[in-house]
Amino acid sequence: MKKIFTHTALATALALSAGSAFAAVKVGFMLPYSGTYAKLGEAIENGFKLYVQEQGGKLAGQEVQYFKVDDESNPSKGPENANRLIKRDGVDILVGTVHSGVAMALAKAANDSDTTLIIPNAGADAITGPLCSKNVFRSSFSNWQPGYAMGAVAAENGDKTAVTISWNYAAGKESTDGFKESFEKAGGKVVKHLTLPFPNVEFQPLLTEIASLKPDAVYTFFAGGGAVKFVQDYAAAGLKDSIPLYGAGFLTDGTLEAQGASAQGLQTALHYADGLDTPRDNKFREDYIKNFPQLPPDVYAVQGYDAAQMLEAGLKAVDGDISKKDAMRDAIRSAKIDSPRGEFTLSKAGNPVQDMYLRKVEGDKNQFVKIAVEKLADPARGCKL
Ligand code: BEZ
Repeated sequence: MKKIFTHTALATALALSAGSAFAAVKVGFMLPYSGTYAKLGEAIENGFKLYVQEQGGKLAGQEVQYFKVDDESNPSKGPENANRLIKRDGVDILVGTVHSGVAMALAKAANDSDTTLIIPNAGADAITGPLCSKNVFRSSFSNWQPGYAMGAVAAENGDKTAVTISWNYAAGKESTDGFKESFEKAGGKVVKHLTLPFPNVEFQPLLTEIASLKPDAVYTFFAGGGAVKFVQDYAAAGLKDSIPLYGAGFLTDGTLEAQGASAQGLQTALHYADGLDTPRDNKFREDYIKNFPQLPPDVYAVQGYDAAQMLEAGLKAVDGDISKKDAMRDAIRSAKIDSPRGEFTLSKAGNPVQDMYLRKVEGDKNQFVKIAVEKLADPARGCKL
């Protein structure tokens, strides 16, 4: 009788013949591959695959089999897209996503099906706050973290008033709330929070309002294609030289080539920077550029790379036996990750405890200036783990 292998049976046979006792680990990427965050999704996948490739194509001796879904950064399609990976493809590990609203749906689907989820970007505070859960981790940040770091720097710079501006969804709200918290704690005042719907880029009326409010500084959360347009429009409106523009570092990460002169000199806070100049980061950047010469080694690539490192830490602890979910998750939670950004650990809620860097745009680099806040832990408000 002719033998027909299904996709899964073939992967299992390959893994077993390669000497592992277990089938290939099935990793499902739920990421944006279209829309304003498309480049971010691509960089995350690249980073993840680069780390696996550096380990000889395996993690803890296990073959890795990839599945992927374009989530379009569309929260309303989140449950359906998550279930494609969980139910149709039967993935062991979910890696996703970029957009906080989509991540909320993904985390719910991961919890309902008891699937391990590593979030390689989306900062939704609630996921490592009131909705924290033992199967969910981040290799990235909470939205609060860069905002809080930048608020402290703005106050140090002597700014007394600020306007915040962002898209009107969780990431924008939480990032600007983080800024407001540290800025006002240090005596500053956020005089107005301006918003527009995601992913709109009609910034002109809001820029006119900023010009009339005349704050000492502006803090913003935008990323991807929207960040390119915002930085260009801010400069074109003549505001760049009169009102300092600060941001969560997504404002200028992976975007500098397109932003050009309009971004020069901007200060942002993030958990990654150009010019860290550590052997670990230099090696990562060299490998990344060799493999993906068209793309900068940005924060998204690092977060994807570290998601693979976190999975490897879990797999090592169970000798590749993915069915030992609790032991694998405990190992991820207690891992020390040797990241290109600098070593980090995870909080009880599963969020990186990490240095937040102040960076300044110089040419095509977000150049490291200093550590703005050392080992910053998200407060994980409401997390009961
Ligand atoms: C978010 O939605 O959480 C997000 C998107 C892009 C960059 C950073 C955060």
